[in-house]
Amino acid sequence: MPPPDDEDDPGEIPYRRYDVPKQGFEDYWYPIICTAELKRKPKAVRLVGRDIVLFRDAGTLVALDERCPHRGVKLSLGQCSYPGSGTISCPYHGWTFDGSTGRLIAALMEGPDSPVARKVATRSYPVREHAGLIWLWPGSMQPSTLVDDIPEWIGRQETFFNISMYTDYKCNWRWLVDNWPQDHHAQYVHRNAPELMFQPQLPYALTLDPKPLDGNKGLAIKRSGGMTGADYPGLGRFPKNEWWRFMKPTGRGNVTGFETSKARTVYGIKNQSELWLPGLTVVGRLSGEYSLIQWAVPIDGETTRCFNINNWRRMGWRREIYDRAHYYLFRSWVHDRMFSDQDKVLIESTVPGLERLSKTDVGVIAWRKFAGTHARRPPGEHKLSVA
Ligand code: FES
Ligand SMILES: [Fe+2]
Repeated sequence: MPPPDDEDDPGEIPYRRYDVPKQGFEDYWYPIICTAELKRKPKAVRLVGRDIVLFRDAGTLVALDERCPHRGVKLSLGQCSYPGSGTISCPYHGWTFDGSTGRLIAALMEGPDSPVARKVATRSYPVREHAGLIWLWPGSMQPSTLVDDIPEWIGRQETFFNISMYTDYKCNWRWLVDNWPQDHHAQYVHRNAPELMFQPQLPYALTLDPKPLDGNKGLAIKRSGGMTGADYPGLGRFPKNEWWRFMKPTGRGNVTGFETSKARTVYGIKNQSELWLPGLTVVGRLSGEYSLIQWAVPIDGETTRCFNINNWRRMGWRREIYDRAHYYLFRSWVHDRMFSDQDKVLIESTVPGLERLSKTDVGVIAWRKFAGTHARRPPGEHKLSVA
């Protein structure tokens, strides 16, 4: 079992009243690695504080508890000694487990009549391969249908293609998600990102209006009003006159129009940005031609895997070659690395403790409250009333 949240942990102060758990919400599908990373050898992963071994045999993908129940050695150091059987053998004394059920098939060093065989089982986890990613369900509830539970344009392969990458953050997953509900850091931090440095100042001092999405899957944070420059008494102007900001923003400033846009009518992207449970953000473009999903995957209380799942609408092979080349040569660096690294440095530097929240945190507060109230959990585990 993952360790319980520490009562004296200052990192818990902002979240305790909202009942958003340190280790993450367990009863959801999470992307854990890219499919290409799982080769012939078993692979160890960690999710919501659970150590899990992934392996593939005879075309079947399985996930078991990493720890051998015999004397605790890591199964990921073992191997599939009987190809085609869907089993994995522990490297220490050869206990051999069925991948799909977790049952001990044989204790090889005790002979075929070992009394322990079939009396022991290790935990097996629901696991799927979809859209170039391996997905795990670490919870105890009956798993939902994967494609119904994640944004549909991840892997609607006939209509979209996607390229995914991830970076591990040395921080709790909640700090990464708190970076997404329009807290106005983007207008400040990213104004000097290579991607935006020639564009005019993004509007700030916006009015934020968080609204639940259909079925309480998440929140849309609507934005309105705002300013692109102002005089601050005793200081001067923000932003300062920066002559190099001569570009016209292309699409990025468009936060309205989603009600009637192609993005909505054809592709179901209804808002410029949405936050979904268990902790992901969906950023769409009005044209519906591209969307970015960033997913905060809780590895454990101190580490978070930030997946960037880039999705493009298929518009012919020439356009696909262009989109892929543009991604690998430009966007993967300028956005998925440089832009995101600006966030990473700051999020990882956070000193946990009491916060003094303000007007720009309306979305952050709404998210915490929404997540604590509406996240799927086993019956009886909700501490907040479901509105
Ligand atoms: S520790 Fe795994 S077989 Fe002994
Ligand atoms: Fe950011």
